[in-house]
Amino acid sequence: MDGNELYINGPQRMHGELLIQGSKNAALPILAAAVLGTGIFILHHCPRISDVEHMLEMLEDAGCRVKWEGHMLIVDTRYLDNYQVNGNGAGKMRSTVTLLGSILGRMHRVAIPYPGGCTIGKRPIDLHLKGLEQLGAVFEHQEHALVGSAQRLHGAEVYLDFPSVGATENILLASVLADGMTTIHGAAMEPEIVELASFLRKMGAKVRGDGTPVILIEGVKTLHAAEYIIPSDRIVAGTYLFGAMMTKGEARLLHVPMAHLGNIPKLLQQMGALVETEEDCIYVNMKRQCSSLPYVVTAPFPGFPTDLQSALVAALSTASGMSFIEEKIFEARFQIVPELQKMGASIASEESFALIDGNARLRGARVEAKELRGGAALIMAALAAEGETCIYGMEYVRRGYEDINGDLKKLGIVI
Ligand code: UD1
Repeated sequence: MDGNELYINGPQRMHGELLIQGSKNAALPILAAAVLGTGIFILHHCPRISDVEHMLEMLEDAGCRVKWEGHMLIVDTRYLDNYQVNGNGAGKMRSTVTLLGSILGRMHRVAIPYPGGCTIGKRPIDLHLKGLEQLGAVFEHQEHALVGSAQRLHGAEVYLDFPSVGATENILLASVLADGMTTIHGAAMEPEIVELASFLRKMGAKVRGDGTPVILIEGVKTLHAAEYIIPSDRIVAGTYLFGAMMTKGEARLLHVPMAHLGNIPKLLQQMGALVETEEDCIYVNMKRQCSSLPYVVTAPFPGFPTDLQSALVAALSTASGMSFIEEKIFEARFQIVPELQKMGASIASEESFALIDGNARLRGARVEAKELRGGAALIMAALAAEGETCIYGMEYVRRGYEDINGDLKKLGIVI
């Protein structure tokens, strides 16, 4: 046994209350945005996960100073003087790419390693580069680094062919200090975009329309430091909600931004759960086997999030009938299927479709977390399975879950 393996003896019933950690996908672009302002930033409820640590290494590389006090993160950007970032984790995660827009915005030059991240599909960055080029940036692809420069960033009308979250973030980051007006048409509407825009406004940026497909940015000359509370992670909350569903359990999750959950509470009700929601709290109680769902398709927000597709597949593999899932965002997001099959699930998947025959009696097995969200979903499946499950590859899960063992203990699980 090593730190990258997790052993769970099932079946166990989830029951308990948990304060949800800060959001990875909100924190990362907000950290990139801090580069655009000069001063001392204070971020509360920041998740202490490996992706955030990697981002901090890159900020330190650029000349920032960072300090944790519990979950409060202090970032001092006053001495930032290096446009070339590296850091050990730079090539390991996707969010490295958001530094393109922000470092360009501040220094007019940037060099970053090619972004990594979970192997859930091709994940090109053509939309990022095209958008930034429209704002005046020029890119050069070197062997180990993507190098960009812009003598002057200027406003533009940018049309995105797909509402890419990362591309929207990058264009937003590069445009807040550009000369003139930028309009992003076909922008992503994810809650993380709204959080980034709110943070930028706190820094003095002029941004409107975030949360809609058209975002308007009026460039300003300078931005200042800000204090911000990172929202709780909607995907972490969703993972545990599906965990409660498949263990016929109950969970009260606190400090959850309900608007970020979109239609998930409704979907849980369709699956047979009692769901109660308050402004920042959700209670789910599942007394029986989950009902199957005829068709669920992943889609940009407010559609069903691709990041919770694996947890849904796991839950539906124990449901009372046939379910059909279509994955429309990432082409390699059914990597959990062979692992669930090892646990006895009956799932047929081809390309972007999965047909799940419920009623499976999941049993313990040795399974591999091949990426972040799939890994977390396997842990939820292990709770419902008969016998011991060993999940290896836990380093992926730690990219986004601060302390999944501790969370599960609070939710009544013995690990
Ligand atoms: C972000 C989230 C990720 C989530 C995803 C979709 C972060 C750190 N990650 O990823 O957890 O699953 O949004 O909600 O916030 N695409 C292109 N060209 C591009 C950019 C994207 O073709 O230049 C394609 C991608 O390959 C993918 C789709 O667009 O098929 C969606 O990607 P995007 O919305 O950009 O996701 P990320 O920002 O990478």
